[in-house]
Amino acid sequence: MALRKPVLAGNWKMTKGPTETVGFFADFLNAWMPRDDRTVVFFPSDVSLAAALDATADRPDVLLGVQNVHWERSGAFTGETSVGMAADAGAKLVLVGHSERRHVFGETDGETAKKVRAVLDGGLIAVLCVGETIGERRAGDAEAVVRRQLAAVLPVVSAQEVERLVVAYEPVWAIGTGETASPADAGAMHRVCRDALAQAFGREAGDAVPVLYGGSVKPDNAAELLREPGVDGVLVGGASLDPAGFAAICGAAAG
Ligand code: PGA
Repeated sequence: MALRKPVLAGNWKMTKGPTETVGFFADFLNAWMPRDDRTVVFFPSDVSLAAALDATADRPDVLLGVQNVHWERSGAFTGETSVGMAADAGAKLVLVGHSERRHVFGETDGETAKKVRAVLDGGLIAVLCVGETIGERRAGDAEAVVRRQLAAVLPVVSAQEVERLVVAYEPVWAIGTGETASPADAGAMHRVCRDALAQAFGREAGDAVPVLYGGSVKPDNAAELLREPGVDGVLVGGASLDPAGFAAICGAAAG
């Protein structure tokens, strides 16, 4: 299943249990009417996925995913969720390698590759997050870091599977900080991602992969970021927690 661009995705991180999830969707689905010229996705907590699925049962235009998986199919991995379990619970997408997974939980490039492989084996869509820290940017290494993160993963994706790959460029220094990459900086890094995708899969297949921007996207800056050539959508943390605000972001993209 290829996603329709633009892709507007909300990453709820460790917020909203089932009760708040139901309340959120009651408001959001009132504020956001189905449109077939874009894809709207939420990544709730695993414990709220069933509530989200229930609340969106009449809205197949809203897709759901999980924020993390383990690469093994099952076993003694306390606290972890497998791709098969996530798929069974209704997830269509999986975030892989979010900067908090990498920097708070120490996830490596190698583990990120194993997770993407597992997501594709399980038939779901992998949203691979990449991005540099402020230190790496100041050192002039932003491009090299993102190329390295992509190079660790793209070789495990086959040409047949590339339509189930999404890349999210999220500079770590812009996540949850209120600082956003300028549209021009975001555009430059999106070209780096696009280039790596074209090298791995050829120009046409590489161009078809949605490349999202993430990092302090808000209702008042979404439109200009989404206008930047090569920005195929946004991955939104804090501002996706507010139903009206996220509906405004979903509407900010040109169709
Ligand atoms: P933020 O988070 O929008 O709160 O900066 C983005 C993300 O972590 O995906």
